[in-house]
Amino acid sequence: KRSRLESVDEFYETAVAVAREAGATIRAAFDKNKSVMLKSASTDLVTETDQKVEAFIINSFKDKFPSHKFIGEESVAAGIQCELTDDPTWIIDPLDGTTNFVHRFPFVAVSIALVIDKAPVIGIVYNCILDEMYTAVRGRGAFKNGVQITTSQQTAVNTALIGTEFGSNRKDEVLATILENMRSLAGEPNAAHSIRCLGSAALNLCAVASGAMDAYFEFGIHVWDIAAGILILQEANGVVRNPDGTELDIMARRILGACTPQLADEITSRIKNIVTPRD
Ligand code: IPD
Ligand code: CA
Ligand code: CA
Ligand code: CA
Repeated sequence: KRSRLESVDEFYETAVAVAREAGATIRAAFDKNKSVMLKSASTDLVTETDQKVEAFIINSFKDKFPSHKFIGEESVAAGIQCELTDDPTWIIDPLDGTTNFVHRFPFVAVSIALVIDKAPVIGIVYNCILDEMYTAVRGRGAFKNGVQITTSQQTAVNTALIGTEFGSNRKDEVLATILENMRSLAGEPNAAHSIRCLGSAALNLCAVASGAMDAYFEFGIHVWDIAAGILILQEANGVVRNPDGTELDIMARRILGACTPQLADEITSRIKNIVTPRD
């Protein structure tokens, strides 16, 4: 009988290899013309590459680990139920940053997590355009291209670079709160150094994990946007919570990741929640 540790190694090595191959497909399509389709709104884009890469990733894991379950963005879009159980489940965003992909803005990632008992055990986020591979296995630290990463030690908004996003829901009341939250953090008193929107939830979390940003929050994201990135950030000594400061619920469509608890507390006290329906 194989030990649990050997299995985790096998899962990890498979996930890295699959992410690399998926990334090569995205990279090959990056500079080509794309046919862009719309999902829920004119700001919610999808391409053939998103769908093709998700099918490739899921088939690769199904071959090797037939008993495992899957949650993938484009499978859910095609009508497959998005339900997280305690079973080993691969949570896949084949192409995080579709808007960037469409516009050739080079922040596009493959995000793959293995979640067991509802907690991420493996997290892989591969920026396939810049060839930056972020990896984590629970309890073993976080790495960027094989070099261990840790968060910055910023403790206050007025010395921080903070990530957030516009997301795809631009309904007036939603957008108003997004802008109000940016204003609250970017404005006096105690103005943040600046605000960044990388256009990829997974890469925002990895930026915090590697110290390139100090915090990131967003409302409306899905579990596939964050499952891998949260483990990478936790393993880099960061904190992940619900934006209201409560313990993270990965299915609750909201996230606050920060380099320190103090910075997370201050952001929580300065932003308003946006209520998003659950999956
Ligand atoms: C999106 C990106 C974006 C975030 C959206 C996500 P997609 O994912 O992560 O940064 O603001 O909420 O839906 O659609 O490009 O995979
Ligand atoms: Ca999408
Ligand atoms: Ca995504
Ligand atoms: Ca996606």
